[in-house]
Amino acid sequence: MDVQQLIDEASEAAATAADLDALVEIDRRFLGKKGEFAARKKQLGALDPSERKAAGQALNDAIGTVSAAVEARRGVLAADAEALRLADERLDLTESLTELQRGHLHLVTQARDRLEDVFVGMGFTVAEGPEVESAWYNFEALNIPEWHPARGSFDTIFVDLGEPEEVMLRSHTSPVQIRTMENTEPPIYIVAPGRTFRTDTADATHLPAFNQIEGLVVDRGIGLGDLAGTIDSFVKAFFGREVKTRLRPSYFPFTEPSAEFDISTPAGDWLELGGCGVVHPNVLANCGIDPEEWSGFAFGFGIDRLAVMRYQLDDIRELVNNDVRFLRQF
Ligand code: PHE
Repeated sequence: MDVQQLIDEASEAAATAADLDALVEIDRRFLGKKGEFAARKKQLGALDPSERKAAGQALNDAIGTVSAAVEARRGVLAADAEALRLADERLDLTESLTELQRGHLHLVTQARDRLEDVFVGMGFTVAEGPEVESAWYNFEALNIPEWHPARGSFDTIFVDLGEPEEVMLRSHTSPVQIRTMENTEPPIYIVAPGRTFRTDTADATHLPAFNQIEGLVVDRGIGLGDLAGTIDSFVKAFFGREVKTRLRPSYFPFTEPSAEFDISTPAGDWLELGGCGVVHPNVLANCGIDPEEWSGFAFGFGIDRLAVMRYQLDDIRELVNNDVRFLRQF
């Protein structure tokens, strides 16, 4: 094979090399130490000295040409490989988002939002208060002095700050009644949803951290009938027109009279939803509101329990297990 043929063959092989590995092989075969051109160089010695120089020159030119062809191909293949790698590693966030399943709000958040909507539709505004409270807001201002037996029934979680048993995680949302009345002139129409805490051990019907929603109305001439009517309207708006409500006498230090309110089930039983009553005059007075001029009602119930009832869950702990297979259903 003459040198030109060798150049053509090597250039052709280089130009059509499928990938970098194939090119390395071609490089070795033609340009390597034991390659075609190295073998030709060895033969130069056998030539007549008069021909040797020109033959050597031609061989070097040929090696230069073939090297250039190999390098050109190497450039193309390397660029292809880089493009492939980039395409492979491409991270398009909008693209992957459309592939993923979209999330949605947690069941309890949905229930809380719907409750707020229903009450806002009835003319209430939404109020908030802190989760860590003082004894004054969680108990005293609510007519539960230190000696009061009701204080023990709240299973309060205390915080290790200041005087013992003075700072606590709120055991109900009722302290928001006090904070609102302290800062707002009546008439007052508020609901206050939020997290509440008790020393309960989690079981099928209890969570140590749970959610309540509080309602408070203070206006002129407000009485038990307004309370009953408000609860009935809200329950019908939330659960459906066919659901009935009833009040059962009960006791809370911060309302007088006090009641527990129940809702009817399709099976004809009653389910307890929460507590309520006419705001105790002492509570109004504690907040600087004249009980001779103003009166009000309050209610409070658990949002998690409500979600359990509405979706007929077997176990309230499902709400906090964070199992997406469960949560996705709602
Ligand atoms: N705070 C009471 C509880 O957690 C419920 C309640 C609120 C009762 C408002 C009466 C009035 O049990």
